[in-house]
This record gives sequence, C-alpha cells and structure tokens, in this order.
Amino acid sequence: MRDLAAKYFDAVKQRYAEVRPNSLKLHKIACKYLPGGDTRTATFFMPFPNFIERGEGAYMYDADGFKLLDFQNNYTSLIHGHAHPQTVDAVREQIALGSAYTAPFEKQIELARLLTERFPSLDLVRFTNSGTEANMHALRIARAYTGKAKIIKTEGGYHGTTDVFEASVDPNIKKAGTLDQIKVIPESRGVSANALKDVLVTPFNDIERTRKMIEENHREVACIIIEPIMGSAGQITPDLEYLRFLREITSAYNIVLIFDEVVTGRLSTGGAQQYYGVIPDLTTLGKVIGGGTPVGAFGGKREIMEMYDPRQKKMYHSGTFNGNAVTMAAGLATMKAYDEQAVTYVNELGGLFREGAQRIFAGLGLDMRISGAGSIYNILFTNKEVHNYRDVAAAHEELNKILYLDLLTRGVFDAERGMFCMSTAMTAADVEFGLQALEEALRDMLPVIADEAPELVD
Ligand SMILES: Cc1ncc(COP(=O)(O)O)c(C=O)c1O
Repeated sequence: MRDLAAKYFDAVKQRYAEVRPNSLKLHKIACKYLPGGDTRTATFFMPFPNFIERGEGAYMYDADGFKLLDFQNNYTSLIHGHAHPQTVDAVREQIALGSAYTAPFEKQIELARLLTERFPSLDLVRFTNSGTEANMHALRIARAYTGKAKIIKTEGGYHGTTDVFEASVDPNIKKAGTLDQIKVIPESRGVSANALKDVLVTPFNDIERTRKMIEENHREVACIIIEPIMGSAGQITPDLEYLRFLREITSAYNIVLIFDEVVTGRLSTGGAQQYYGVIPDLTTLGKVIGGGTPVGAFGGKREIMEMYDPRQKKMYHSGTFNGNAVTMAAGLATMKAYDEQAVTYVNELGGLFREGAQRIFAGLGLDMRISGAGSIYNILFTNKEVHNYRDVAAAHEELNKILYLDLLTRGVFDAERGMFCMSTAMTAADVEFGLQALEEALRDMLPVIADEAPELVD
C-alpha cells in the first residue's frame, strides 16, 4: 500500500474505532480467552471487529448501537437474512421436542427429499455439520469408488479447512509457478506436506491445461472438485464450455466430478448445476440448507452413495450431530421458503446491485469490475475481466480492505474481499441504500485509487 492509501486507511480506522468503545472493550476481553479475540479467521479485521448484538431481517445491530445493512449474511448462508420468522418458529417448536435423538426422524427425510427433488445430481444424500466435512466425505467416497487417490482442484478454489483442500487457496502468485506448472502451496502452517502430495492444481476455466493434466494423470486421479462459481476467489463465473468439458472428460476417464455447491446452491432451486445444465457425479452443500445453523451435506449418484448404506458395510460415516433435529427443522423451514419465486426475487436484487455498481463506476470514471451471478457479487479493483484466480490476485486487494471499513462506517456490512450477497429480507430500497454508500465511499476514495491504481481512473 502506498503512502496516500495507508494514511487514508488510518483515518478510516480511526473514524471506525472512535465511535465503537463497546466493541473495543469486548475485543480486549475476548483476547484473554480467544486467540486474537475471535474464533474464526475470516471474521477478523483490523483494527478490531465490531461485536454484533442481534440481527433482524436485512439488518444487524452492533454493540455500539449501529444499524448495519448485512450484505455478508454470514458468508452467504442466511438466504432470508436474520431471524426469518418461519425458521424461528420451526426451531422453537423443534427444540421443545428435543434437539438430538441418536435415531433417524422424519424431518431428515423431508429435507433429504426436498434436496434430492431439487438438485438434479442428487439421488441420495447424507448430512454433515459443515461444508468442510461434506467435502471431506465426498473426497473419501470418490476415492473408494474409483480406487484412486489423487484429486484435482483449481487454484484459488476453497473447499473448507481439511489438509488436502488447504492447497493453493490464496497463494502468493509470485511463488506459485507458471500456469503450466502450478506449484501446490499449503494455505496454512501445519498442513501436512504428505497430504498435499495427492493434490494437483489447475487454473479455473482453462480447458487446455486441465485436459493436459487429466490426460497425464488420470490413472491416479479419483476426482476433480470445483466450485461452479469460484466464491472466495472473487465470484469468478465459469465458461459453459469449461463445465461441459469437465463433464465429458471425467466421464471418459472414470474420474468423479464433484461440484462444491456450498455457496452456489442458492443460485437456483437446483443450484449451479441446474442453472448451467451440467450435472456432476457428486454435489456438496452447506450454508443456506441449514437455515442459519451449522450444516453440510453431500450426495449424488445412487451407485456411489449406496456405499454408505450400513447394510453393505463398505464405508463408515458418522457424526454426533449429523442430521441434527434443530438443523433439520431450520433447514426445512428455510428451504421451503426458498422456492422459485424467492430465487427470482433475490437474483433480481442481485441484478439491481450489479447494474447499480456498474453505473456508479461509470459515473465516477472508474474502470472497475463486478464479478458474480445470481445473488452474490464481488467488487474488484481491476480493469480486466476475471477468468481465474490469478486475474483476481492481480487486482488491488488493499483497496477492497479500505472500502470495506469505510462502508462499515456508513452502515453497510459486506465482506473484506468485496463480496456482497443479497437476502430475501432485503428490498430494492435496501439495495439502493447500499449502492448510495458505495458511491459515496468510492467518491471519497478517488484520490487514493488514482494514486494506488492509476490504470483504473479514466
Ligand atoms: C465453496 C465452499 N466450500 C466449502 C466451504 C466450507 O464450509 P464450512 O465453512 O461450512 O465448513 C465453504 C465455506 O465458506 C465454501 O465457501
């Protein structure tokens, strides 16, 4: 970050901190008990995160009394915003009947039925407690089914926090080799180097390089896992030919195609697979299907998933809270309310946001991009179209950090990386409020942008 941007950022931090004595106090206490005062790396930001007291619909209220329009929605998991009335009722009713039974119960059938009826790839489904776990089990069953061990993932792809998936998630591209020979880089210290020996990394949307990798390694590759829209990498949308190519080549080489739809599951009633018309072998889900409670699910073709049938004793999958009663009740109420009409509504809000942002960029003479589809978008300080992780990594990430904190001081809560996600609790007027804040923040940042990223200013 250059001097002007650093000074501007300091001023925004000061403006943010000055009026949040309660959050600062809580942060200091939290630091005594939690490393860095937090329990989730992705929710921490400098100078300190604001503590939230409650959420209602499209808004959250923080410990210093600020009302925040929530474009983050717990990293896209709250499709109906906060305290959705039907979900609250369902949870209240269920918890009074018991929260966990060590036995199957009917709401598991109902949620499994809803998901298998909606997602074209799902014949059978199993529930987990997180998207991380869902991917872990999808990988295991792909290995068991094919008898092979390696996985192919995309550079920048995020599939949760197990070792194999913590490969090249957010690598420094200067150290990551060329696109022809991407180096597999652990995301965190402590990730097993041995686990990463099973991982091959390919650029997203790159048919030729992915074809070469598959042709050279198919005898060892159990699965290829992708996010149909790369979420944490910056909402990078896929070329349809790329998805179709993956479908064809994996079928030809006995490789299991896994769509990680933990985030894209909200794109239509049947997720990205229905939206793009490309059906994987296995699908993993999470976020919205739990109605705001911890959840994950994986499923797919009957012949693969039946390996988890206890009567066959081929594979083991357990978990104290799998298919938890409260989760099922919350998920069911939420997903029932997330019907075609709700999908259309929230995607239309997304369209309003995207068009509004583009209008703002043009009005301010900024040559910037907004990526994404449906109800999730990412504002990127780059003047180039983004097709893969490296295109986003070349953008000015530091400007996103400034914009994020600046927007927070204006009552708008998005994600530090520039992600904005709509909920059905929002109205067009809410989106307009967010856009106004965006316009004001970018206008104030213009000298900083001109200094930091002159190529973006007309
Ligand atoms: C695409 C994707 N897959 C998997 C996960 C992991 O899900 P969880 O955080 O529930 O473990 C996430 C979380 O953000 C995600 O975005």
